Amino acid sequence: MIPKAEASSDSKGDVNIMRVILLGPPGAGKGTQAAEIKAKYDVAHISTGDMLRQNVKDATELGQQAQKYMDGGKLVPDELIVKMMRERLKEKDCEKGFLLDGFPRTVPQAESLDGLLENMNLSLDAVILLDVADDIVVDRLCGRRMCRQCGEIYHVSFKPSSQGDKCDKCGGDLFQRDDDKEQVIRNRLKVYHDQTAPLISYYDEKGLLRRVNAGTSSSSVMAEIEALVNEKVAE
Ligand code: AP5
Repeated sequence: MIPKAEASSDSKGDVNIMRVILLGPPGAGKGTQAAEIKAKYDVAHISTGDMLRQNVKDATELGQQAQKYMDGGKLVPDELIVKMMRERLKEKDCEKGFLLDGFPRTVPQAESLDGLLENMNLSLDAVILLDVADDIVVDRLCGRRMCRQCGEIYHVSFKPSSQGDKCDKCGGDLFQRDDDKEQVIRNRLKVYHDQTAPLISYYDEKGLLRRVNAGTSSSSVMAEIEALVNEKVAE
């Protein structure tokens, strides 16, 4: 895994290809860190949350099915997610590696991913757990704002836009996600602890899990992730 500037056009199985899962509770900073990693290492950033929100916006059949679960902070059924990911992983941009953000989120999803990758003759390099306390998550998500146009992520205190309710990058309107209300956030956290946290031991037993303290500043978290990536390169 090497930075974009030095990357070659890789083939399957090349050590320079990064296939990583970012695991962690809602608000851990998965989307924030993924945007930086994508820019630096030129890998596909696959966020199931973003894909589902786009489907809701486009009023597709999947979007209509998913919306009621998302609004309540519940997980969308595994079969819908796995079907969506089976198609997404076949896309061209995944050939140079990928960063999974928000998938898998249940043990059955992780088992399905194992099967999908096996069929494609691919394997994972690492699962990076962004570890952060629930109270920090609530503060982060209550203050999160996103750009409706380009998806840039802000925070009213920790990363405000210099243009108030407009995006610094593209001038688009900033908005608050429907599921970033305190009651829904608490429910998402419960769902995380009940259904997603078991993946920590699932991947630990496979020797893939790496932990990062995500309760610190974004730049410190990124530095820890980069150190892990570089360690992988050295292996
Ligand atoms: P999804 O969009 O995946 O939401 P999530 O996992 O709950 O994660 P978030 O996007 O809320 O948080 P994040 O970790 O990306 O944090 P961010 O970087 O934005 O999923 C939404 C819904 O879709 C689910 O509830 C479910 O219904 C459905 N879904 C999605 N995938 C599914 C699946 N696989 N199976 C079933 N259902 C699925 O940061 C948060 C805030 O904190 C920002 O304001 C940011 O600026 C700030 N921040 C980030 N890092 C720091 C830092 N280090 N210091 C200070 N502030 C920080």
